[in-house]
Amino acid sequence: MSVFTAAYPVGHPDPDVSVPDNIITNHDSACQERHNDAVEITDSLMKNRFSCRYYLPKPVEKKTIEEIIDAARHSPSGNNMQPWDKVYCITGALKDAIGREMVEAHTNTPDAYSAQYLYYPAGPIPPKYAKRRFEFGKHFYAPLHVDHGDLKGRARVSTRNFNFFDAPVAFIFTINNGLTQGSWLDVGYFLQSITIAARARGLETISQEAPAKYQLILRKHLPIGDDEVVALGMSMGYPDLEKVAQFSAKQPKREVSDIVEFCGF
Ligand SMILES: Cc1cc2nc3c(=O)[nH]c(=O)nc-3n(C[C@H](O)[C@H](O)[C@H](O)COP(=O)(O)O)c2cc1C
Repeated sequence: MSVFTAAYPVGHPDPDVSVPDNIITNHDSACQERHNDAVEITDSLMKNRFSCRYYLPKPVEKKTIEEIIDAARHSPSGNNMQPWDKVYCITGALKDAIGREMVEAHTNTPDAYSAQYLYYPAGPIPPKYAKRRFEFGKHFYAPLHVDHGDLKGRARVSTRNFNFFDAPVAFIFTINNGLTQGSWLDVGYFLQSITIAARARGLETISQEAPAKYQLILRKHLPIGDDEVVALGMSMGYPDLEKVAQFSAKQPKREVSDIVEFCGF
């Protein structure tokens, strides 16, 4: 019994412990030569990303989506559990039907719905985060000419969440209800990988916690199991850059010196 098989009950098939050779070829010399390009391209894909709320009515090929998920599935996860269960990818008439129903619910009976988890604390948010949240609102609503106190205007804007900002593709991500915070972190890696892989193909995305509230509607239309928690939505498509420029502002980001505390350097 090897160190690997010792962890398994008697009768468990031997795991394949061979080292995949591509783990080494990732660092081959050809890759090193391209390194400078890779830095520039990767940093640019990350630094220029933004949450896109305006899309062109241009379809996204299923093959492109498969490629994106194929890249993102290599994301790390604790003990390689890969807890991105499951990814519902929706388009066409089904997406429109779900969108219509969520908009209707959000407009008329929002109190009848709730998400299966709290995205934000139920109580007060610690002051520095509350301040950043307020700043977000200023940058978000100013180009839309919606005042901070204009609750109707704000509601009108947030309703766009529920038809997935008219994006041609929407995703719903669920996580098994037997898993805990660590797995939710893992799914975050997966989501960011999707975002960057999408950008590399000229697509933009926006992550959305808002649709999680209408999980009962999503469950009516999608084969979501009872053991799945509806965690997040995401819209994806080719950006309408004219509208993006007109109605969106770059959200401010914290400086490196504010984020990192170098210790022992
Ligand atoms: C997990 C997650 C959930 C989010 N949910 C929503 C949402 O429901 N609706 C929305 O308009 N934006 C949502 N956002 C986008 C944030 O508002 C946005 O990331 C933030 O304001 C920073 O702006 P940026 O993404 O353009 O840099 C979400 C972002 C994340 C990471």
